[in-house]
Amino acid sequence: MTKLINGKEISAAIRAEIRQEVASLPLRPGLAVVLVGSDPASQVYVRNKNRACEEVGIYSEMYTLPEETTQEQLLSLIDQLNESPLVHGILVQLPLPKHLNEEEVILRINPSKDVDAFHPANVGKIMIGNYDFLPCTPAGVMELLAYSGIDPAGKECVVLGRSNIVGKPQAMLLLHANATVTICHSRTANLAEVCRRADILVSAVGRAGFVTADMVKDGAIVIDVGINRDENGKLCGDVAFDEVAPKTSYITPVPGGVGPMTITMLLKNTITAAKRAAGLEVHK
Ligand code: GUN
Repeated sequence: MTKLINGKEISAAIRAEIRQEVASLPLRPGLAVVLVGSDPASQVYVRNKNRACEEVGIYSEMYTLPEETTQEQLLSLIDQLNESPLVHGILVQLPLPKHLNEEEVILRINPSKDVDAFHPANVGKIMIGNYDFLPCTPAGVMELLAYSGIDPAGKECVVLGRSNIVGKPQAMLLLHANATVTICHSRTANLAEVCRRADILVSAVGRAGFVTADMVKDGAIVIDVGINRDENGKLCGDVAFDEVAPKTSYITPVPGGVGPMTITMLLKNTITAAKRAAGLEVHK
């Protein structure tokens, strides 16, 4: 029997707890979200992030900058946000327009406000297993597994994709949870065969219909991180859901799976940043 992992419901439960925690704090956590350019998908993500902040009582500032923004202008906004006492978390939506240097932008964010956990200082901490900030999407996946009563310890986990945002940190989190982890990518030989070994398959490739039934073992758990559009413009994940779902024990839908969890983890990180700024204790 296939069970659908309902990220919307799990996310709503966690956000209710977050709302209570925010109300109990002696300061109002604040998040600044920066969007450069007019990529429609990024616009939707950024709007959802701001809406989620409102929902739980987190103060938010949104900066929508034109496509032709210069590197200097963007860095100067980050400097200003690094200094702002109202802002505890800074998020610059990626990808940035081609003429901007993403690495330099990430490096400019004060690591103590880096709620995406993209700064090398935070990436290094994730590698060690000492999390100042959770990598949002991978941490969301771990929460979905935990809420579904799935313990990755001792399981074969295959991560499809090696991005800095998802694939690499996802592998680390699964490893820290005592899984046996394989990372696959565009140059992996015998991809379907490797994927068929997975007790837990996490796909973060960004291609509609990429994961097909022949890549999935009977009874596997399939987590779909992809957010794509199909040929009709409909939102879909990486997994060919209709053919794969019947083979699985658990599967996440798109939309309503991992997506809402990413934002929920961002809210958690913003609270963590605010607590640290106020010298309050943070439970890791
Ligand atoms: N683009 C896609 N996912 C993310 C994310 O989690 N954070 C940021 N800043 N940009 C993204």
